Amino acid sequence: MKNGLPLAIDVVEAPASKIDAVDFENLVFGNVFTDHMMMCDYEDGEWQTPRIQPYGPIQLEPSAKVFHYGQAIFEGMKAFKDDEDQVWLFRPEANIDRFNRSSVRLAIPEFPKEVFLEGLETLLNLDRDWIKQGFGSSLYIRPFVIATEPGVSASPSKNYKFMIICSPAKAYYSGEVRVVFAEQFSRAANGGVGFAKAAGNYGAQFYPTNLAKQEGFQQIVWTDASTHEYLEEAGTMNIFFRVGDKLLTAPISDRILDGITRKSVIALAEEFKVPVEVRRVTVKEIVEAAEKGELKEMFGAGTAATINPIKGFGYQGKRYELPEQENSYASFFKTKLMEIQYNKAEDKFGWRYLV
Ligand code: COI
Repeated sequence: MKNGLPLAIDVVEAPASKIDAVDFENLVFGNVFTDHMMMCDYEDGEWQTPRIQPYGPIQLEPSAKVFHYGQAIFEGMKAFKDDEDQVWLFRPEANIDRFNRSSVRLAIPEFPKEVFLEGLETLLNLDRDWIKQGFGSSLYIRPFVIATEPGVSASPSKNYKFMIICSPAKAYYSGEVRVVFAEQFSRAANGGVGFAKAAGNYGAQFYPTNLAKQEGFQQIVWTDASTHEYLEEAGTMNIFFRVGDKLLTAPISDRILDGITRKSVIALAEEFKVPVEVRRVTVKEIVEAAEKGELKEMFGAGTAATINPIKGFGYQGKRYELPEQENSYASFFKTKLMEIQYNKAEDKFGWRYLV
């Protein structure tokens, strides 16, 4: 951004596409990347001219601050293709706003929204063929910023690299999902970075999640760090509980991510008159509801995972299985959301963005 004006984007196209080597029917989430990526450097106190170039390795000094202090944030977005081959983003401005809120918390300069969108649209147009039609197929978009200044003094970097890479996607979880409620470890604390998509929030979950996996759970539902009495967020998703006909989810806070799928589900619940309560949810009430047979469903909501039903949970060494649900809320909201994302239903909320 020079003198407050958006910059032109330099584009170098890949000499050949890798697309023919990709098995789109058997995609593993996040393993394959499209032909191009977007990149923009922050130097001398401003964002320089953005570039789009062939996807490939980048070079960094070993002392780059991102390696030492984890000064890095990211987003997750998706693009969808409708039956007429039009490409749509879902609520991209909400992602960009959150990207910049995360940046501010990590002392990273904000990235200009209009350059972000213009660059992303250019990138998506170049890699359009990588977006496949059909419910469940999408292009997962991963924008991120890393601190690139060499030097190991513990202070904010003066230089950054903004990038967007894209990966064709189907499901995030390949099998059934069961979760365990956290009793010992914590994801986020008051006044911390839990609300931000800070890279370290995710890295710090790997060890406890590995322990949970050894017990047969795919994810942890994080509880509040001070008492472990309140259910907050699952590792890669916000979480909803259906008790009777009522849908419950925790309010956002400085510990909980302001999930875009989460707030879309809440808006759809209000539209379709599904009773929804956004309030603190206790471990005790959910365990008791499960014991009385009143806990009908749990599901996660996130960009990567979309809406993912949760089959059961563990707490204090006990396991609870949830009943198979006909007409589940999870599948209702997933369908409603996809109909909007794939341009099959009216977009009352103005969530779709044509590329
Ligand atoms: C997303 O849903 O986009 C996320 O950020 C989760 C990610 C860690 C896979």
